[in-house]
Amino acid sequence: MRIHLLTLFPEALAPFLEHSIPGRARAKGLLEVDLVNPRDFTKDPHRKVDDRPYGGGAGMLMTPEPLFLAMEAVRARDPNTHGILLDPRGERFTQAKAARLAALPSLTLLCGHYEGVDERVRTGLGLEPLSIGDYVLSGGEAAALVVVDAVTRLLPGVLGDPTSVEDESFSAGDGLLEYPQFTRPPVFRGMEVPEVLRGGDHGAIAAWRRAQSEKQTRNRG
Ligand code: ADE
Repeated sequence: MRIHLLTLFPEALAPFLEHSIPGRARAKGLLEVDLVNPRDFTKDPHRKVDDRPYGGGAGMLMTPEPLFLAMEAVRARDPNTHGILLDPRGERFTQAKAARLAALPSLTLLCGHYEGVDERVRTGLGLEPLSIGDYVLSGGEAAALVVVDAVTRLLPGVLGDPTSVEDESFSAGDGLLEYPQFTRPPVFRGMEVPEVLRGGDHGAIAAWRRAQSEKQTRNRG
């Protein structure tokens, strides 16, 4: 998969993308990341990317031209990339959405900044608005990293054991949260690993896990 990130702060995103799961995916040749700075597409000597909103109001908006030119440069190299605008007004990002995006060959994530982005960027470039939750971030960068992480770990071959994706919270399609897990030691500061997990009865373990998943899901809902 190829992921293009349009951001005013490529140097802030780069370290995250070199480590953790995205870093592993890149090392295995399963993910290609392309950082594009819209500021490189400005035409004025001040490299200005923002301006005051028409009609007044607080803050500055990102102007359309550098974003259009940056997106057009990406599309010239990668015509079928799916364009996304990180936007608190967008459809909510979920595990199901991550799975749908992971099936695509190429994504372009446009990170807004300042108070937002001129509306013509979304409409004129045909971007899908996507929100990671009902709160307002100061920029789309953190949201884009959430999307990159959730999508990348679903790419075949990125995680060592594919069942670790299937078993976990939200994935199985049953909508249940993951059951609690334990590793060694069997007793830590007086807290014991449940007896059933230490025995070899796989049926009993599966039943315990199912019951725990249901309990976790009830408690959070
Ligand atoms: N940009 C600012 N807030 C955001 C959010 N909640 N989701 C996606 N992009 C954003």
